[in-house]
Amino acid sequence: MGFISDALNRIQPSATIAATQKARDLKAQGRDVIGLGAGEPDFDTPDNIKEAAIEAIRRGETKYTAVDGIPELKQAICAKFKRENGLEYKPEQAFVAPGGKPIIFNAMVATLNPGDEVIIPAPYWVSYPDIVLLAGGKPVFVETTLENNFKLTPDALEAAITPKTKWFFFNSPSNPSGAAYTEQELRALTDVLVRHEHVWVLTDDMYEHLVYDGFKFTSPAQVEPKLYNRTLTMNGVSKAYSMTGWRIGYCAAPVELIKAMTKVQSQSTSNPTSISQWAAVEALNGTQDFIPKNAAIFKERRDLVVSMLNQAKGIQCPTPEGAFYVYPSSAGCIGKTTPDGKVIESDEDFAIALIEAEGVSVVHGAAFGLSPFFRISYATSTEALTDACERIQRFCGSLK
Ligand SMILES: Cc1ncc(COP(=O)(O)O)c(C=O)c1O
Repeated sequence: MGFISDALNRIQPSATIAATQKARDLKAQGRDVIGLGAGEPDFDTPDNIKEAAIEAIRRGETKYTAVDGIPELKQAICAKFKRENGLEYKPEQAFVAPGGKPIIFNAMVATLNPGDEVIIPAPYWVSYPDIVLLAGGKPVFVETTLENNFKLTPDALEAAITPKTKWFFFNSPSNPSGAAYTEQELRALTDVLVRHEHVWVLTDDMYEHLVYDGFKFTSPAQVEPKLYNRTLTMNGVSKAYSMTGWRIGYCAAPVELIKAMTKVQSQSTSNPTSISQWAAVEALNGTQDFIPKNAAIFKERRDLVVSMLNQAKGIQCPTPEGAFYVYPSSAGCIGKTTPDGKVIESDEDFAIALIEAEGVSVVHGAAFGLSPFFRISYATSTEALTDACERIQRFCGSLK
């Protein structure tokens, strides 16, 4: 028996954090590196939110709070769900954690028994399978295709459900593909879920506000009220409000689940940072003006990146509806050889050769459960994106 637990040995460190770190390390060594691995907006947190946090410190809001969040934030969360999603929740159904990630972690630790299955469409956000494994459950992957714009079909969902299925994870717009389901596409999935009463839905709506070309965001419990009593609707301030470092995620769900998650959090992190909670109150209740402004900037960058990548030899890049990622296929580069004689056999080889040759850091698709793709985060300046895409074009053009 080793010192490290079997549970920990089942999981991998986050591939996206590793890619970001590698880019940082190379930069520190003096290499000219453009990091397109990080999943965070390059915008600063809006001033009204920062001011609310400074005010909270001055007022002395610096003590432990209720484990599941301050009442003011729970009220703001309920108001947000009503205003933006047409979902009615009472404050006792709302819950706050130190980020969106711990929301999922708490929910899984609170509900999974060994052998319980969790359906995860691929490509998926890197942390989903590992959180499920750490909590003792079994991830069940259902692959999507580029031809279907990385969206799960109702038939594939139906086929994946077994008597052991406990949760279905839904993420729209998606990290890593940027795919977002229309109301009609989502309804096709909720029609399947309604028929399987033992399956709970965890919807990760983190990128709700980052949708383009007039796309209308909808959430499962909103589209199908029959799922309300078995849906965990999760969101957070990290992406929409450029608050990744503040560590605030939130959700709403049936009270029984919220109580169980509170129990887990009471014995792990305790409450999320008091000051960040007050900042989140201002984020949700204050002006939302900068959200469409930021989204317009992201849309321009998306269009630039998609167009430039499609001009790279061997790359095929679909246009996603939302988030700040594209998920191009590197299929046309696999089997080719770099000028220094390395054969590219996988998307991981592609990502490694790209950073070595041109100093562009991307994350390979295998980390998200679907090859031969790679993920680019376009949450960086237009200049850096243009430079990076020119380098990718040059790299792909150099392959024989
Ligand atoms: C799909 C998705 N869900 C959840 C999170 C977690 O967000 P947080 O930083 O609030 O933990 C992320 C962050 O990358 C994400 O991409």
